[in-house]
This record gives sequence, C-alpha cells and structure tokens, in this order.
Amino acid sequence: MFYFGVDYYPEHWPEERWPVDAQMMADAGMNIVRLAEFAWSRLEPDNGEFEFEWLERAIGILANQGIKVILGTPTASPPPWLMQLNQDFYRVNRDGRRLTFGNRREYCPNHPDYREYSRRIVTQLAQHFAQNPSVVGWQIDNEFGERCYCQICRKSFQAWLKRKYSSLDELNEKWGTVFWSHVFNEWHEIPIPISTGGSPNPGLALDYYRFASDSYVEFQKIQVDIIRSLCPGHFITHNFMGFGYEGINYFDLAKDLDLVAWDNYPRNQWNNPPMPVLSSTALSHDTMRGLKSKNFWIMEQQSGPGGWEMVSLSPRPGELRLWAYQGVAHGADGLIFFRWRTARFGTEEYWHGLLDHDGNPGRRFDEIQKMGSEIKKIGEVILGSEFKPSVAMILSYDSRFAFQIQANNPQFSYASLFHSYYRSFYKKNILVDILQVDDDLQPYKLVVAPALHVLNPSRIQSLRGYVENGGVLAITHRSGVKDETNMVVDSRLPGILAGLCGTTVEEYDSLGPEMSNEVEFVLPKGGGVQRLAVKTWCDILKPMNATVVARYVNDYYAGKPAITCNRFGKGWVVYIGTAGDEPFFDNLANYLIALSEVKPVLESPEGVEITERWVSDRRLLFVLNYTSKQQEVSFDGHYSDILLGSRQMRKVMIAPYEFRVFVKDKSTAELRYE
Ligand code: GLA
Ligand code: ZN
Repeated sequence: MFYFGVDYYPEHWPEERWPVDAQMMADAGMNIVRLAEFAWSRLEPDNGEFEFEWLERAIGILANQGIKVILGTPTASPPPWLMQLNQDFYRVNRDGRRLTFGNRREYCPNHPDYREYSRRIVTQLAQHFAQNPSVVGWQIDNEFGERCYCQICRKSFQAWLKRKYSSLDELNEKWGTVFWSHVFNEWHEIPIPISTGGSPNPGLALDYYRFASDSYVEFQKIQVDIIRSLCPGHFITHNFMGFGYEGINYFDLAKDLDLVAWDNYPRNQWNNPPMPVLSSTALSHDTMRGLKSKNFWIMEQQSGPGGWEMVSLSPRPGELRLWAYQGVAHGADGLIFFRWRTARFGTEEYWHGLLDHDGNPGRRFDEIQKMGSEIKKIGEVILGSEFKPSVAMILSYDSRFAFQIQANNPQFSYASLFHSYYRSFYKKNILVDILQVDDDLQPYKLVVAPALHVLNPSRIQSLRGYVENGGVLAITHRSGVKDETNMVVDSRLPGILAGLCGTTVEEYDSLGPEMSNEVEFVLPKGGGVQRLAVKTWCDILKPMNATVVARYVNDYYAGKPAITCNRFGKGWVVYIGTAGDEPFFDNLANYLIALSEVKPVLESPEGVEITERWVSDRRLLFVLNYTSKQQEVSFDGHYSDILLGSRQMRKVMIAPYEFRVFVKDKSTAELRYE
C-alpha cells in the first residue's frame, strides 16, 4: 500500500475531537498517521506508571476510518520527573555547558541510566502494541543529532578508543601526540574536544566525531533490538534530516533500520526564501534513497508556514502538493505531512499544520485532499518502482567530519561544493545516486567524488576497478589529503589517488574572500576557449600522464593546469583543482557529460524538473513545473498520463505549479505480443 497521511498529536486536543479528525483524514484519502512521538509524559506520567489506554483509544478511532499507525518512541522528549532524577542525564555542549530543562533532545545518549529508562518505556510500548492490528511500524526517537561532551561520554570515548587501537602507543603514533607534548601515558588522560581545550588534535577530534555518531547508532540499536524481537511484523525507521545534517554518519544510522524516512521543510522560519532551493531538496531525497540504496519515506512533509518565534512565508497555492510530489519523483514510497492541525500551545505554535489553529479545513487542506485522491489512483503503480541513474556521487561523512574540524578555507564548505556539482546535473534532469566510496560503482557511467578528503587505501579498490573497466571518475581539490586517522599523507597530493588521476598537485593557494582567479577551458574539437571565474581554492597541477583541460589565467600560476584528464585502463579520471560559481560547474558538468555519454531523462524548460522511475522495463515520467507559467514538454515517444487518463501524447502543456505523471506507451511490437 502507498501510505499517505499525517503526524498527529491526539494528546494535544480534546478527546471529543478525535473522531472528527479521523473522519476528515479519511476524507482526505489518508491511510496512516504517526503518533506518540513526544508523548512520554502521557505514556509514563510518573516513574514506572504506564498509561496507554488513551493511545489505544486514539488508535481505535483511527482504525474505524481504516487508518494505520506508526508509533514514535518518545525518547526525544523525556519528562521533568525523569530528568530531575539525575543532572548527568543532560547533554553537555561543546562549550562545556550542561543543558537545562525546557526543550527536547536534551539527553546524553551514552548515559547508562537514561538508556535504561528508554529501554523500559520502549519495551512496555512494544509489548502493549505488538498485537494491535493497526500498528504497522515504528519510528525510533526523533531527528537524532547533537554531540554530547560530558564526562560519561568521555569515559565511553576512552573505551571506544581502547577497542579501536591495540595500544596507547599506537594511538599516540596515529594522532601524532608528540606535537605540543600531548603524549598520553594512560587511557584516562585522553580528553574530549571541548572548546576550552582550544583547537583540538585533528586525529582526536575526528575519532570523537565518529564516536559521537556511533553513540546515536548504538542508542538507536537498543530500541531497534527491543522492537524487532517483540514486534517482528512491524517495520522500523527513524526520521533523518536530509543531506544538510552532518553530525551523524547517516549510512551507519540507516544500517539497522528497515527503511529510511526524512523530514522535508523546503521553507521554514530559519530558511525562508521566496523560491526554495529545490536542487537542495532533490539532493536530500537522493541522499536518503542512497543510504540504503532503497526507496524511502517522508516522515514529515511541510504542510504550511513553518515557525517557532517567526513565521515563514506561506506556501503558495500548489506548492505544498508540488514539494510533496518532488519526494515521490525522487523515490518516496510513503508520504506523511507534518502536522495535522497547528498546535495552540508550546514552542511550535506557529509551525502550521494542514489545519490552522481553529481546526477548520482551508486552502492547504483542500490542496492535500486533492493529492489524497490522486495517490489513490497512482500510488500502487508508483510504489516500489526503481531508479536507474547513470551518475553517482560519493558522499563521505569522514570527510565532512574532518572539514568540521579544519575547514581549510572560511569559504569552503563540503556541503555546498557537493551541492554545486549536484545542481548542474539536476538542472539538466540527469538523475544521481548518492553512494559511499566502496559501494559497487559498475552500473554508472559517471562518478563524481567531491573533496574525498579522508581516505582509507583499502576502500578505494572499487574506484580503481570502476575506472579500469571504463568508468569516468571526477576527483576534486582537497581529495586524498588525509589518511583515516586525519593525518596528512606523506606523498604528493592527491596522495593515493595520484596514480589514478595521472597528475599531482605541485602547490595550492587558499584564496581570501574577495579574491578570485580565472580558468580557460580548452573546448574539444576546436571549440575555442572559454574563460570562467574561480575562487576559494586553487590547486596548481603538475600532470604526469594526464592532459590539460583548463589552465589558470592570472597570478603567479597563470598558464598552469587547473583541470586535467587522465586515461586509466578503459576509463577516464578528471581532476578538478578549483571551484567557482554556477557557470563554472555547469560548464564542467557539460564536459563530464560529454566524456561519459550520460543522457538526461528528457530536456525541459528552466524551472521544470523531470525524473523517471521504472516498473520493471516500463518508464514512468514525473514532471514538475515550479514556475508560475504554463510550460511545454516534448516527449521522446508516446506517453499516457496516468493521473488524468489522456493517452498517446508526444508533447504536453504543464500548468503553473503543476505535477503530472506519465507512463511510456508500449511499442506496437510489445502490444502485438500481449
Ligand atoms: C522537526 C521535528 C518535528 C517538528 C518540526 C518543526 O522536523 O521532527 O517534531 O519540530 O521539525 O519544527
Ligand atoms: Zn554525554
């Protein structure tokens, strides 16, 4: 079943209202709700006193309307009675200050007693609801994140290090603690990188970030194990935060789950552009699909203006539906809106649901109700359909963590470099899978690995094999700089990638905020020369076997190579030593696309996105018009509209803010054999 629904907090509303809500949800085509995610104080009002009847009643009322349930474990919002038992339950920030009560997510994930209270409530819930026919799945906690820097974490970190390093001598060696006399004689001397300690040893800090990530993976696993054993028929997920969140290695966090879900707010009080950056949203969708190489869910999809203290711009008519369908176009197989009705109290009074505070249906409800009836028509066709991109991008959380410790340049951002590459493909309707460096790369024609900074030699075999077999690989500046202990390598950059790239970095130049240079691309087949601005970082290259693709124009390295291309086995490796603005990346993408012969799904006018999913060998096309104008799209054959029913079209007009989905018509030959 294609699940379509809302995040619902019955505990915020009088019980008489629940049947009205359930009826309205059913009228809007909804078949699922997420419940109980922050309800710890209602589920266990005092230590060891459990009250689940209200939740059962709510589930029963929803069941009467045929609505299924995902239960959230409430561990992200511990009640006051619990937190006052022990001050050490509170997380400590990087500046060494302990949190106090007043928000949520304030706990230390490593505290053994907090874990025990979490275990108990989760066990009770799982036992109680295991046999409830309405419950189909579980969401663990809420939006894991935020590193803790407390003394309990410090002890756990030391234990984690003991497991990782065979001896203190090895650790001292790998972190280079001889620098500034940091040599440790005892494990318990090892500090954590709080800000009073100043700029930390990079090896120590990277290990701490990995440890902090593992802490949440472990905290989640405790709950996963309980639910899996008590509720074997239910799926288990967590609500991730998209590409932008970089405190946890999301590949690791996804491993123990049945599916990945994420929370998608293209426009909110902190990020309130008139036109949301939909390439960023697309990148988040693709990253979430990549974590398990599997379709995902949206656990929270924007349903109105977002706001805590401030209120964001209202989503324009059509935008909510379009943003939600963008998820489907990138692999969402379940869609849940946050939230049903806008809360009248609490920090999120202005985070708008589908219904306003007054509970009456309005424009936003009508829009999503329309979508509900559409999902009934198309949901089953789309569900489980697959992606087959021919481009992959390599995402490295180790590298992201390392850049959090040493950004290299104040203007450098791993996330925005990654997005800049992605956006150039996105604009051309070229689909991208997001993978890890040691994943199977053979199915792809082009692999782009932005700033692959921290590298373990044993993990690059797939890169090498991929290129040898004919793949095109793009490597950028700041790649191969560090070994996995966050120590700089002792060979010419890009270190262990130099052989593949056929080039080395002779010197690099980290530019100031106002500075720039230019590069001249030598266009193939006598296409002339194109000049583009570059900034932030310039690797001055010294090719060994590679040929030059672009050269610097200014400064003392004018005429020196900035981009090279190397034949390796049957493939090509392009090394890009610098970065620029959008035209730079667009130009580069054109070059990479030509070299790898990658094809777009279809061409489309600006502001119109087209993606594809496959039902075995039948192609579904998703067309999204984000502009306020009607737009024409020409197909590469005959297509039928599975929403509106029109058939045998070769081109189509898409209304402003409209979404349409098409299936490629069978060829006459296929029809003959049916
Ligand atoms: C997050 C949380 C929700 C809610 C929304 C809006 O995504 O998961 O509980 O707080 O943001 O702020
Ligand atoms: Zn802690």
